[in-house]
Amino acid sequence: MCGIIGYTGKKSAAKTLINGLHRLEYRGYDSSGMAVVYDGIISLSKKPGKLHVLTDELKRFPLEGNTGVGHVRWATHGVPNEINAHPHLDCKGQIAVVHNGIIENHQALKKRLIREGHKFTSDTDTEVIPHLIEKYYKGNLLEATRRATALLKGSYAICCLHSAEPSRIVGARCDSPLIIGVGEKENFLASDAPAILDHTKKVIFLSNLELAEISPEAINIIDYKGRKIYRKPAHIKWDISQAEKSGFKHFMLKEIFEQPEVIKNILKERLKGNRVHFEELAIKENLFRNIKNVVIVACGTAYHASLTGKYMMEELIRIPVWVDTSSEFRYRKPIVNKNTLTILISQSGETADTLHALREAKKEGAKTLAICNVLGSSIAREADGVIYTHAGPEIAVASTKAYTAQLTTLYLLTFYMGYLRRAISGTENARLLNELKKAARLSKLMLEGFKNSDNKIAKYARDFRKYYLKKHNKSTFLYLARNINYPNALEGALKLKEISYIAAEGYPAGEMKHGPIALIDENPWVVCVATKAKVYEKMLTNIQEVKARGGIIIAIVTKGDDRVVSQNINYIIEIPEIDDFFSPIVVVIPLQLLAYYVAREFGYDIDQPRNLAKSVTVE
Ligand code: M6R
Repeated sequence: MCGIIGYTGKKSAAKTLINGLHRLEYRGYDSSGMAVVYDGIISLSKKPGKLHVLTDELKRFPLEGNTGVGHVRWATHGVPNEINAHPHLDCKGQIAVVHNGIIENHQALKKRLIREGHKFTSDTDTEVIPHLIEKYYKGNLLEATRRATALLKGSYAICCLHSAEPSRIVGARCDSPLIIGVGEKENFLASDAPAILDHTKKVIFLSNLELAEISPEAINIIDYKGRKIYRKPAHIKWDISQAEKSGFKHFMLKEIFEQPEVIKNILKERLKGNRVHFEELAIKENLFRNIKNVVIVACGTAYHASLTGKYMMEELIRIPVWVDTSSEFRYRKPIVNKNTLTILISQSGETADTLHALREAKKEGAKTLAICNVLGSSIAREADGVIYTHAGPEIAVASTKAYTAQLTTLYLLTFYMGYLRRAISGTENARLLNELKKAARLSKLMLEGFKNSDNKIAKYARDFRKYYLKKHNKSTFLYLARNINYPNALEGALKLKEISYIAAEGYPAGEMKHGPIALIDENPWVVCVATKAKVYEKMLTNIQEVKARGGIIIAIVTKGDDRVVSQNINYIIEIPEIDDFFSPIVVVIPLQLLAYYVAREFGYDIDQPRNLAKSVTVE
């Protein structure tokens, strides 16, 4: 959940680290800090609060030096104050460590270290690491870190400095990501690629239980037994401009507007004529022909994409598909075996629960396929096969373009499997691909209508805020949809909750009468997806039921649908006419925009909502 970075080269370490931390801020933003070596001494700067507080501090009190480590924190152990902010030091202030993860046995280690005379200052689990390194240090930071990390239980990615080895940084990882950025007479360590893209696109992915020592001239990788490892750098295709706001007020809005381009790029990448190709897949076609069932496992937004995937695959391939949240899957006894394809979906590829679910599925003998956005991420590398979603870096904590990229990839995977299993004919395959291409065009067309920041949805959001205040903050949101758009109801509610802090629930509309309808009076605002679909008539009935009980309705309808409009609905959002099966890609966009504008009305920090972090690498 935290972001870490290390730099060694000829540039100002402090400036390079701050720049990198800005790109990592989405991983944690309750405090930040850095340590820089200069003249054989480690200087420290740490501040609670967002990164701009540390940036201001460094303007007043700059740190000199060309080697340093930095951190943005998402607190687990210890409140987010200056003392608990990273980096943490050993007793003599010669070793500095930044850490992402949780050291589960820190209490036992701390007790032992205290008995041995070590002095602790913070409440963090991390602080045991510099003290352990201090204990084992005999003039070689890499070796001392290797011995120290061998005692750690839990998850970690760390960067360490020693003042006696002033141009060297040591990194180590177990279940938290760490990459090496390979530069010209400079090298980097970082939690992920955007932190270093300003300087290099050449990266080496560290594997679990590996350590790396970097200096401006050299990179040395070893495993936990001290054996040397040689690994070629990979090339990151992402462009740094993709990790900038490019004139948009927030990353979330930029990423919403990027979606048509993302879908278009995926199709360009994956289609050779009318055949779907997954170049990097590494799973034989026969497996897709022979599997008996599919299990899809994911968290949050990726879970909602998975649910939509179930509708796609069951309808077109007629194969049983189960969907589970990773945190549930991993702790029950999941029924998967060699006949099961287990698909793990994760934007970051680092979500701890999904990673453990993957390992659980492998243990049971299932074939595993990762659908990830981040190249070289842990889930992508541990699965038997991978399909990258090519959405580019997603910076806003609230996931938007990664979701539509996951949906697009799931459509393609469905066509691919369907074709191999002879469930989809060549003609049908061509028709489906055309519809998907059309969905990409329609999503672009629709977004054109929302370019003006004072658009219809922004106005509805303004009305909602007024209403909310009038109702003494009592109003809530309910999202109703059916069939293939039901997961979008969940996703719309999640988007609103996470950035507006307003209670919101997503429900299959048919379930209303089994309980939730009791919630309806004049307080909740009810978003109803009533686009032209096989469940359209049913949705109209549900709308009537809500209306009859005084609920305020925002209806998402197909353009030109007079029937809904004539029913005196409070608010209407039109989407272009689209094949029902492909509508989730388009329907989700107004839901994302609604959440965005409501949060904007309330003046919340949209890209960095409270208590959250982009990549959840702790359980
Ligand atoms: O990186 P992942 O896709 O595995 O992340 C899963 C969830 O943590 C993520 O989708 C989360 O729910 C987002 N904040 C939703 O906007």
